[in-house]
Amino acid sequence: MNRLFERHKKRKVTRLDGFWQFKIDPNQVGEREKWYQNFPEDSQPILVPGCWNNELGLYHYEGAAWYQREFQTTKSQVNLVFYGFYGLIKVYVDGKEAGSQYGGFSGYECLITGLTPGKHNLVVLTDNTHNNSNTIPLARVDWFHYGGLFRSVELMEFDDAWIKDYRIDYQLEQIDESTANTVYLDISVTIQNFTTSGTNELKLYLDDQLLAVKPVNFPDSAAEISIEITDTAVSGIKLWSPDQPNLYLVRLELDNDDITERIGFRTITVRDGKLLLNNKEITLKGINRHEDHPDWGFAMPLNLMKKDLDIIKNLGCNAIRGSHYPNAPIFLDLLDQEGILFWEEIPMWGFPEHALQDPLTLERGLSMHELMIKRDYHHPSIIIWGLHNEVDTRTQAAYKVTKAFAEKIRSLDTTRPITYATMHPLEDICLSLVDLISINKYFGWYHDRIEQWQNFLHQFKVKMKTEGLTGKPIIISEFGAGALYGENTFEQQKWSENFQDAYLDYTLNLFLNDPDIIGTYIWQYCDIRSAKELEMNRPRSFNNKGIVNEYRKPKQAYWTVQKLYTGA
Ligand code: GCU
Repeated sequence: MNRLFERHKKRKVTRLDGFWQFKIDPNQVGEREKWYQNFPEDSQPILVPGCWNNELGLYHYEGAAWYQREFQTTKSQVNLVFYGFYGLIKVYVDGKEAGSQYGGFSGYECLITGLTPGKHNLVVLTDNTHNNSNTIPLARVDWFHYGGLFRSVELMEFDDAWIKDYRIDYQLEQIDESTANTVYLDISVTIQNFTTSGTNELKLYLDDQLLAVKPVNFPDSAAEISIEITDTAVSGIKLWSPDQPNLYLVRLELDNDDITERIGFRTITVRDGKLLLNNKEITLKGINRHEDHPDWGFAMPLNLMKKDLDIIKNLGCNAIRGSHYPNAPIFLDLLDQEGILFWEEIPMWGFPEHALQDPLTLERGLSMHELMIKRDYHHPSIIIWGLHNEVDTRTQAAYKVTKAFAEKIRSLDTTRPITYATMHPLEDICLSLVDLISINKYFGWYHDRIEQWQNFLHQFKVKMKTEGLTGKPIIISEFGAGALYGENTFEQQKWSENFQDAYLDYTLNLFLNDPDIIGTYIWQYCDIRSAKELEMNRPRSFNNKGIVNEYRKPKQAYWTVQKLYTGA
């Protein structure tokens, strides 16, 4: 299952998960040797979805790798949907390149037309090579360099036309969670036809209530047309909120195609230093979560996602930061259903000035933001877009990239505030470009004493006044300490659970009692594998700052955080 609601009643969708043929290509000869036409005989079976690193012998493999399988279709046009992969993807059908993309956390759709109905050969090249100049993320990153098709692959088949794209926007007559509301829908739909002429009909449903019917007249050649359905009023709507996560199905239907989106109606705004959800102030009691598990890598099953969410809700959290990349769509569906607020970002982590100056960094970053927002725009749980994490925002290079990202995101989405996580708050020159200020600091862990937090917060608020930043809400987006699971001692020395417990007790009390801080995201939910590049300062080659270990067993700090977040 790739989503928690039925996306199609008419469109034929087949999952291509299961055993594929697989072969690594460490010397990058596959393209030259045309593996996409003659797949190597000595390939091995591998399961999709999955990270190849969990296969025996491939733990540290990083580079190019090839997948192959066949698919059947009775149609002449299909869409191949890759839900998640790491790095580059190139798709070949029947020996010909069909499409490629850099960046896979938001997935990739590859439309193939002109097919002869029958069996076809599908070959996929993916390459998770990291460098330290313009891959996103760079090689120096604090999570494991997994590779592969780590989420599902689907085959979609089309008749005469398909709903290629859509955007659902709305206005609320009143922003009041306590009563039913009237909503005005503004929907734009892009339809691609494959026939040479003819007519069709576009229908709009909300929860099976037919709202509009629009004639579709295709020009006399295969083309894309846009249809707007505006100002369509629907009454009796209940708003989406953490306490009442009301969701509705918006369905678009053509004669032979359809697609359903599940949305929630809410507003998220910033005003006078506060974050307002449906015009009510909210405090974000959050945690940072990687999509990682030692037995699955990024390819986490739904059972584990649900378990994570239950543990996080049990902690008293109302917010999760998807550190540091777009998450699986089905996890976002879970958050929509459970009313958990989400901060989503692209994996642009720790870029120094020289990497920020690389033109490919900007190009790839803009593309990844566009893919993320296009894929996830309709999730009510997503309340914040993050531009990047701990890039060197003391530099003009960072200012240029941040400005370009902010303009791109705001051109795609005017309904959500934007931020980035800064590790140089006092020297940062980019904070005026975003709506929320988010600070990553580890006083008392990596440097200084924990008491330095108080002095820092005072200094930062002075900076906000002198630089005209007042009115921007402050979030502490990362703070935490490492603890080896089971290391319980009488002393509070570093790497003990006792130290981590005392650290989070002190910092959370400080932040939760500061009226200028509207949100906290603990670093981090669970222990995760780190990258080879960092293994010498990561005991076990893991980042051990989880308040549960990698098998989701609670450390001492879990219970302290639960008391503070639930107010028990
Ligand atoms: C950084 C970074 C995290 C990293 C953490 C740590 O703030 O954003 O991805 O894992 O610090 O050092 O543990």
